[in-house]
Amino acid sequence: MKLQLLIVFVLSLDKFPEKSAAENGKVLSITALTPEQVDILRNISSQFETVLWQPASPIHITANTEVHLYVPQERVLDVTAQLESNQFTHSVMLEDTEQLTEIQTRNDTKDPRLKGTSFYERYHNLEEIYHWVNKTATDHANMVKVLLIGSSFEKRPLYVLKLSGRASNTPKKAMWIDCGIHAREWISPAFCLWFVDNCINYYGLNREITEMMDAMDIYVLPVMNPDGYRYTWTTKRMWRKNRSIHPNGVCVGVDLNRNFDANWCTSGASSNPCDDTYCGQYPESEPEAQAVANFLRSHKATVKLYVSIHSYSQMLLFPYSCAHELTANHDELNEMAQDAANDIQRYYRSHYKFGPGSKTIYLAPGGSDDWAYNLGINYSFTFELQDRGRYGFLLPPNLIANACKEALLALKSISLKVIKRI
Ligand code: ARG
Ligand code: ZN
Repeated sequence: MKLQLLIVFVLSLDKFPEKSAAENGKVLSITALTPEQVDILRNISSQFETVLWQPASPIHITANTEVHLYVPQERVLDVTAQLESNQFTHSVMLEDTEQLTEIQTRNDTKDPRLKGTSFYERYHNLEEIYHWVNKTATDHANMVKVLLIGSSFEKRPLYVLKLSGRASNTPKKAMWIDCGIHAREWISPAFCLWFVDNCINYYGLNREITEMMDAMDIYVLPVMNPDGYRYTWTTKRMWRKNRSIHPNGVCVGVDLNRNFDANWCTSGASSNPCDDTYCGQYPESEPEAQAVANFLRSHKATVKLYVSIHSYSQMLLFPYSCAHELTANHDELNEMAQDAANDIQRYYRSHYKFGPGSKTIYLAPGGSDDWAYNLGINYSFTFELQDRGRYGFLLPPNLIANACKEALLALKSISLKVIKRI
């Protein structure tokens, strides 16, 4: 009953007419070749209302690695002039972000031709996802339960779906998967929905899904950052953080993947509330991070596998990201990630890098995967889904299926290995 009331509350909040979050601009791909250019690019990417897509923070810009920078239309001339005068190698990655955002948000009321396309091959706003959570639990009550694990800064519910196959007398082991820590990574919640649908439909039919669900309960948090996610639909498509307001602060939001207690706010995170990688006032200062941490702490006896879904860049990462040292079970994690990446390569001809976060992507403390690992969840991964920079966060809906299929393959491969070791 309580659950229904909460859902009604959230639905009514979302009833206000939604203006579009589409931002009109371009995404530039820029490579610095010299230390001087690195400095200039760091400067450019922190001014003119530009938004860094890759890497997540200016401090991670280095020589000879591609930087993806969103530039609002009215700044494109300024920025390209600066790039030209400093002899940068650069090209236009996305010509028209507004149009791509429009394609991502088309639905069957806007465009009746979409009526035939699958629900899971479209992106859904927060209201639709809450509705889906409720409906999925009602339609598959034998397999799915909804748990309320906390609420966001703006008091939206954080729902977890608990999927269970065959019942067992002894307490079952479990795996956890969260999506949508970062607001703009829309393929991530889309994957959680895809995954749940797949588990429900193929339980008893597909050997691997059945094995996975019989051996483990599966906890799925489809949108860990609902306030941020909603904001990307209504106001700013490029938003990454949550939407918390800090006492006497001018800037909004904390990077939830810098807010966990794992070398919190050391090098690789920012203590400036205006930055996209702001770590927050203290570890777990944010209700979203705290809710997840509390849940995992209280279920740590059973949860053996932690997976967090992000995008983009096609990587299978494992701890540590918060330090350069390797985990005690590094070889095991590396082999699991390698096998999963090989599977993806073989079946889908799609390339995924793998390795510890700190070496493969960048030093980034305060992440959920490192924290979960230190809690005692020995199998902990962060997946970065498609693509590698063709569309970035604006991955068109017709590419959702491929992105989800390959991630699902990796997840099956890893979880079946975990089952044998726990
Ligand atoms: N792109 C992700 C981020 O910047 C990488 C996550 C890897 N794990 C981590 N703990 N940083 O948050
Ligand atoms: Zn992310």
